[in-house]
Amino acid sequence: MSLSERVRIKVPASTANLGPGFDTLGMALSLYAWIEMKQDDRTSFQLFGDQMTGVPEDKSNLIYQVAQMVFEEAGISVPELSISMYSEIPLTRGLGSSASAIVGALAAANALIGSPLPDRKLFDMATNLEKHPDNVGASLFGGIIAAAWDGQHADYVRIEPPAELETMVVIPDFHLATSMAREALPKQVSLADAVYNISRSSLMTAALSSGRLDLIGAAMKDRIHQPYRAALVPGMAEILDEAPNRGALGVALSGAGPTLIAFIQREDERVEALQTYLLETMKKEGIPASILLLSPDIHGVQVLDELQSISFMDMIRGEVTT
Ligand code: HSE
Repeated sequence: MSLSERVRIKVPASTANLGPGFDTLGMALSLYAWIEMKQDDRTSFQLFGDQMTGVPEDKSNLIYQVAQMVFEEAGISVPELSISMYSEIPLTRGLGSSASAIVGALAAANALIGSPLPDRKLFDMATNLEKHPDNVGASLFGGIIAAAWDGQHADYVRIEPPAELETMVVIPDFHLATSMAREALPKQVSLADAVYNISRSSLMTAALSSGRLDLIGAAMKDRIHQPYRAALVPGMAEILDEAPNRGALGVALSGAGPTLIAFIQREDERVEALQTYLLETMKKEGIPASILLLSPDIHGVQVLDELQSISFMDMIRGEVTT
């Protein structure tokens, strides 16, 4: 096993569920976090950017802990690490920040020790930590992921996003913990609602696989989580109803929220009007919000071999997209 002295990785954000595919569908987005991991004599952290405020800088740090799981699984000891991280993925907004941290840590630690663990093993480890495969699968593999988790192993298919597909996300300026958004859900759903979701989730998967953007509107609908979460996100119910009339192909809560994601067609001339509508609806509810136009990320987590001679922060300055 060949150990590197230092590795750098770039890992995308993600949106989960895509409406009906609760805990099964995910898509990677062009918003990123970067991690540098080095073997060292003593563990230390350099955490950059607003998103890192409050993140622990000792061995309880998630990146450190997840890296140690990789070393243990590979039967190798690397107890002391120097970890640098910068993220442009907002925390607890439904854009998969914790999944990207887990996947980034797994990929960096695995690369540091010569990549003994295959991606499917990293996927199982990531899903075991996150408990659902939708965000972690997207961050790991890029593109669109359909995945099923049996409690130990995740089976998945990666779908290449249709070339014309873009997204507009509206990010409300408040945090919503996934645990709280899951507590809002009922323990049981009716057969009618289950069938409603199974059919639309299947249609969504088939439509995305075959580039049928015209079916997104019919498919991107849900009855098993969004109706229960709408009370947690002011403006959400109205936007889910109305955005498709304002240029969105379809619209959904992004993961557990509070971000909302509209699928749009590349170069659709209604984009500006849609943006104005989304911001005004949030404003009407008294919620400050920001908008990002994001593309599907098709790479997933990447080990960066270039730019090794420049410092971590200089590399980030050349890369950030927001
Ligand atoms: N599928 C999950 C949920 C994603 O909606 O709760 C959140 O990380």
